[in-house]
Formats: sequence, C-alpha cells, structure tokens
Amino acid sequence: MNPIEFYQIKSQENYETARTRAIDNPELFWSEIASTFSWFKKWDQILSFDWSIPKTEWFINGKLNITVNCLDRHVDKNPDKLAILWEPNDPNDKSVKYTYSELLSLVCKFANGLKNQGIKKGDRVCIYMPMVPELTIAVLACARIGAVHSVVFGGFSAAALSTRINDAKCNLLITADGAFRGDKTVPLKKIVDEALDECKSIKKCIVLQRTFQKIKWNERIDIWWHDFIEGLSDYCEPEVMDSEDPLFILYTSGSTGKPKGMVHTCAGYMVYTAYTFLNVFQYKQGDIYWCTADIGWITGHSYMIYGPMAVGATSVHFEGIPSYPNWNRFWKVCEKYKVNQFYTAPTAIRTLAKQPLKLIDGHDLSSLKVLGSVGEPINLEAWNWYNQNIGKNKTPIVDTWWQTETGGIMISSLAGVTDQKPTFATKPIPGIRPVLLNNEGQEIIEKEAEGILAIKFPWPGIARTIYGDHTRYKEVYFNAYEGYYFPGDGSLRDLDGNFRITGRVDDVVIVSGHNLGTAPIENSINEHKDVAESAVIGYPHEVKGNALMAYVILKSKIETSKLTVELRDLVSNQIGPIAKPEKIIVVSGLPKTRSGKIMRRILRKLAAGDFEKLGDISTLLNPEVVDEIKNKLAK
Ligand code: PRX
Repeated sequence: MNPIEFYQIKSQENYETARTRAIDNPELFWSEIASTFSWFKKWDQILSFDWSIPKTEWFINGKLNITVNCLDRHVDKNPDKLAILWEPNDPNDKSVKYTYSELLSLVCKFANGLKNQGIKKGDRVCIYMPMVPELTIAVLACARIGAVHSVVFGGFSAAALSTRINDAKCNLLITADGAFRGDKTVPLKKIVDEALDECKSIKKCIVLQRTFQKIKWNERIDIWWHDFIEGLSDYCEPEVMDSEDPLFILYTSGSTGKPKGMVHTCAGYMVYTAYTFLNVFQYKQGDIYWCTADIGWITGHSYMIYGPMAVGATSVHFEGIPSYPNWNRFWKVCEKYKVNQFYTAPTAIRTLAKQPLKLIDGHDLSSLKVLGSVGEPINLEAWNWYNQNIGKNKTPIVDTWWQTETGGIMISSLAGVTDQKPTFATKPIPGIRPVLLNNEGQEIIEKEAEGILAIKFPWPGIARTIYGDHTRYKEVYFNAYEGYYFPGDGSLRDLDGNFRITGRVDDVVIVSGHNLGTAPIENSINEHKDVAESAVIGYPHEVKGNALMAYVILKSKIETSKLTVELRDLVSNQIGPIAKPEKIIVVSGLPKTRSGKIMRRILRKLAAGDFEKLGDISTLLNPEVVDEIKNKLAK
C-alpha cells in the first residue's frame, strides 16, 4: 500500500476505531501516521504538553524538512505527477501545469536566490502576492531554507501590511507589480511602496512581473523576480529543521488590539494537514482537487499548499474571482479540469445561488465527488442549494469547522464515509476532543446541549504561540477555561454527538468568511476628526453571513452621507476593503453599563432587528439611547 494511504479512513467502522485509538493512546496514534513521512531523524518523544504554561510539542527532536515531504518524495517516485493546474484570472490567458519535479526545481531556484540575499533559517519573509504559482513557489522556497514565511492577503491595505511586516520584523518582501482581479488590476507594488515607508526591517523587495503596469522603482531595495533567479541552480539542499521550529506566521484578527501572528511549526502541522486533507476530502491518487480560497488565508496554506502536497495531490489554483468574466466561471473551471473535490465558502455559495440556474446547467459537473464548505456556518438554504444544484443530490458535502489557530480541520464529516447532517459540522476528526462548557466553565454532560466550544487535548496542528506575545496567546486561548483550548465559538450538540457551530462568542465577526476584530475597525473610525466614539458589531446578512454596522457618536457636525463615505474609505485604507462597515448609524450615545462598558449584546440585538429580545435595559446608565437607536434603525 502507498504509505500515504495507510491512514485513510474508509468506513464508518474505521472512523470509530481510529477515534477510540486516538483517544486511548494519542501518542501511538499520531506517531504511526508521522512514521509514514520522510524524516532526517525520528523523534525522541512524541508529545509533551502543559497548557498552564501553555506549551505543546509534538515529535520532539525529530528532524525534517516539510518541502522534502511535499515535493522531493513525490519527485523520487513519479516526477511527472501534476502538482498544480493554474487557471489565470482571464480565461483567454494561458493556463499552466506544473509537475512535482518542475515545482521542485522552481522552488529550489528561488530558495537559492533567497540564500544569495543572506536569508537564513529563522529569518522572516513577508509575501504579498496575487494568486499566481510564484506565490506557492515563494512559500515553499522559504520552507526549503527554514525561513519563516508570513503571507499577507493581497487585499490588505498598506497600513495593514506594514503593521504585519513590523510585528514580525521581516527582512525581505516578495510581491508583484500588480494583481488581476476580474476586470480590475490592484496596484500591489504601489501599496507596498506606501507600506515600506513605515518598515525599516525590509532590506530587499522581490517584484514579480504580472500585470506589466508602470511602477515606481526603488534601486536600493527592489529586484525583479526574473533577475533574482537568473542563472541559479535548480537544486537546493533542504535545511534540517527541528519538528518544533517555526514554519510560518499567519495573522488573524483578535477581538482587541493588533492582529495576532499565529505561529505554526514544522512537523505537527505537516502531519495534521496531510491527515485531515486525505480523510475529510477522501482524496484518491489521481483525483483533481480544487480549493477556491486565497493562499493569504489559513485555508490556502493548509488545503492548497501543505496538506494536498504532503500527500502528492493534484490541485487547481485559481487566480480570479467567481464573477469574471461571468458568474459561471467556477462551473467552467470545474468542467475544464474535471474537478473531483471542490472546497469553497458559504458566502461564495450564497452569492452564486443568486445567479440564474442556467449558468450551471450548461456545464458538466459529473466529475464532482465531494463538496466542501469552510469559514462560517452554512445556513440550510445555502446547503440545500449547494447540494441540489452542484452536488445533484448525490455528492457528499463536508462542512469543515476549524481556524487559523487550529492549523487544520477539527470537526467535519469524512466525505461519503461518515454521516453528514445539513448545517452541522458533525463529528470531530480522530484525536480531537471537543466539549461544550457552560458559562461557569464546567463540561456539559448531556448530549443534546448548547454551550461554549472548547478542546480538551492537544492535536499536532495547534498554533504554538502568537509571534512575540506568548502572554497574549495564553490569555486568549487558555486562560478563559483552565485546562482547555478556547476557540471563541459557540456550538450546539445533538443527541448523536454532532456539533453545529453557532458563531463567535467574542468580538470577532466573520464577514464573508473573513475573520475581523471589531476593535481595530473602531480604532480607525475614531481617528476621523468628527468622530467622538464608535462601536462596531456584526449583524446577520443574507449573502455575507454577517455584515458590520458602526454606531458612531459625533463630536462635530458632518453630513451623514459624507461621513459614511469618509469612514468607509478610512477603514478601507487602514485595514482593507473587507473591513468596511455596511451600515453607519449616527447616534447621540451608546448603551453602557454603569461602569461605562458598551453593551454590545444590545447593539447586536438592535442591529439584527430583535427589538423584543433586548432583556432588562433598566440597569443601563443611559437606557434612553436604546429607543433613539430603535427609531433610527426602523427608518
Ligand atoms: O467562527 C469560526 C468560523 O471561522 C472562524 C475561524 O476563522 P479563520 O481563523 O479565519 O479560519 C477560517 C478558515 C478555517 C471560526 O472560529 N468557522 C470556520 N469554519 C466554520 C466556521 N463556523 C462555522 N462552520 C464552519 N465550518
């Protein structure tokens, strides 16, 4: 048997056995899977953890390089195996196929370029690029030499980019002249130039030519990608990495303050993403898998690069957007590549569901074997639409619950192997021990219940720290409920033990699958010269899942329409267009407790139109503002 398939669960019974084994002896369970990978030296100890510190280590003192597992070992067996089928933004442009051996050569060349610039193990490299194959190449080249990559989503603003570069003190930045996005181009290099005014740590900026638009050139630091790799060898010795050496930093929003740079390490992350990829999607050798995410998010890291490549999968990588040149693009791409597994987000599904069905009808989707959903709860209507129109009522749907912090999928059905239940993520991956807690932090024993979701035992893919701020890591994830990892979500559980994630229980709002902290948005809004105070909350939105509403108190007069434009621009520039509030409501006060804390719960209920369910507001410092807000919202 192919060693990779050794750990593929093939039946409900297999799943039950794996789950029991993983709970009874997690060390043995995960080490058997880890043994199928390529190691320079095996570990001395499998697991050591103490969540009161908190510390989690897997495969201790093991030595490996993740790119050997994602590239070399497939090249050794079958160099011509396809790794990436790249589909450009414009369907009339040339699509490009990369075999594992071509990819390895390109990764090595670029890795040698990084070495030439003096980049070494442990250095941080920021990557701010469009969805081109060179993005994957840059990521893997960093991993090849042990540099820690920090990919920043190409939709983020200059301010958001510089905050992330400065937090990780990156030495080198990899970008492109511009990015194609439907019929628009995004001036990536211009945004980079603006960001770099605030970043002193960047010594070199590598620029890929993608859009060929005019850019400003800074002789001191800018180097064209093609010059950077000119004449370099296409082999680069893989750096020997410790299991617990950092592999990458990826920023995610917190409910307060600056973004959190989640640090993932080499071995545990590799084992966990490979295991979950293979099992959740039931990937079989030769299948064509497509995840529509952007590599700037964790889904792209775990299920476009590392998970699929660790098992030698063939993936479609798509540069464009679902609406360009027409709303049938996804189905065209599925048909063109005969996609077997298709993984997308509920927001995309809801948007696509608004388009005429005839846009799907003309396409042969018979290759599809598995459909996936990620990033936010999928409502029943969207689930049914996906099931009927794309899955033709016969394709399993995996609703995968996980987070940037968890590294890989935590709760999901295994396609066609374990039972699915619409709108439920269903059951944990073997080795994952989710529980529901009540507000006092006690485990709820009854099966059918609703509570705070928490995880009881470490798994290999958990992020090990927040870059440069272990105290915050402890406070956010481990202090809330002693002895548990706290993800920040609430959940229901049915009598059969299926989990249905109900949404965030903190001040993070998931908008179109993007994780946004409300505090940084409020900070931007408060910078406006006419704003005294603000509160941003999420409310249910038909397409985006949640949208943002900003309640704003003014300190000087300004017309609401002007204010709305200016605030949306401000947020867009400081964080990115995804964080722009959908609605801005000017109020004379915000409901506050007597100690001055804003009652966000009330603001959320008001925004959702739940006027009847506000609870007791008599204890507020200023109950009269509630009526004022109701009147404004009712207009
Ligand atoms: O609230 C949960 C929601 O997305 C959050 C994690 O966001 P992020 O770190 O950006 O990662 C997104 C991609 C994994 C979670 O805390 N979430 C993610 N998947 C689901 C979900 N909510 C419900 N159902 C899901 N399948």
